[in-house]
Amino acid sequence: MIPGSDSPSTNPAESVVTTLGWVGDAATGVLRMIDQTRLPTEFVEIDCNDVPTVWEAIKALRVRGAPAIGVAAAFGAVIGARVGLRDGRAGVEAALKAAASYLATSRPTAVNLFWALDRMTAFAATIEHEASPEAYVNRLLDEANRIADEDRTTCRAIGRHGAELVVSGQGILTHCNAGGLATADYGTALAVVYAAQEQGKQIHVYADETRPLLQGSRLTAWELHKRGVPVTLICDNMAAVVMRQGKVGMVVVGADRIAANGDTANKIGTYGVALLAKAHGVPFYVAAPSSTFDLSLPDGSGIPIEERDPREITEGFGRVTAPAGISVYNPAFDVTPSELIAGIITERGVISPVNTAQIREVLSS
Ligand code: MRU
Repeated sequence: MIPGSDSPSTNPAESVVTTLGWVGDAATGVLRMIDQTRLPTEFVEIDCNDVPTVWEAIKALRVRGAPAIGVAAAFGAVIGARVGLRDGRAGVEAALKAAASYLATSRPTAVNLFWALDRMTAFAATIEHEASPEAYVNRLLDEANRIADEDRTTCRAIGRHGAELVVSGQGILTHCNAGGLATADYGTALAVVYAAQEQGKQIHVYADETRPLLQGSRLTAWELHKRGVPVTLICDNMAAVVMRQGKVGMVVVGADRIAANGDTANKIGTYGVALLAKAHGVPFYVAAPSSTFDLSLPDGSGIPIEERDPREITEGFGRVTAPAGISVYNPAFDVTPSELIAGIITERGVISPVNTAQIREVLSS
């Protein structure tokens, strides 16, 4: 894709969004990311050079989507560790620990954040003690780059597995943004769409607008349009009618955290879409990498759900739309029970039926 260009690409395989990545060397480089709060009207990239800037970018949803948050945190850990360079090996080790603890407070629901930080600290523990502080930071950057590269490969594999489930000519409904913008590249739910289109299947996507922050209209519609995938934007409250009209053959969404039994936390509104899909006999799929599973939780009741600033509802995008002082409830995610999920599309294959035994089997394969 040509950043900022309005012309759709005719080849989804070629047109790639560089959501985020490292620019420069370990000592002086920066984490560069698209500021997703500015889309779709402005294409702006920002450089993060300190941990509070990375934390703020995650908190404010400049970078968002579970896998992309994990990648951002991994690079944030590198930025954090190098603060300790002047204090030698003990300095970089302590600085890494402090950065990881701080970044872990940015958002609670997407488990990929904690997964990536744990992986960075576990990797750091394997770096030989003789390594200089500079070599230590270099090695951390290598690991963060591996996390980003693996995310790209993982998303392609999710796309390949998911595309098998797509029937040419059917409509696909999605909620929120689980596309290239939510990952290092290519997406999870939208990977299924891209891979099916690359296989020559006829695709039409219905993108839920996704109240209150409009990831569906600002990001999914933007990304699909840029990649030349036919897309129709609908308000969240129109999903029932498009299903009733037979326009939707499958639903595919992403995930922020999946419990051991398959209960899935994703963007608020996903649970309602799953219920609608059930009522209309439409299969409801979740697409997610294995890093989104939290097998320490037996079911979805233990998934921490982020509650966000009420102003996202009362004055979203700068316009006051509710009376002053009104009481507001603003959970950013909900949990879809596993019995509503026809399958979970992972890089290791499709988990179906969705239950604890199947999940363990596919994830250990
Ligand atoms: O609040 P957000 O925009 O980070 O929420 C994102 C979602 O809910 C996505 O569907 C999920 O993280 C999967 S991204 C591949």
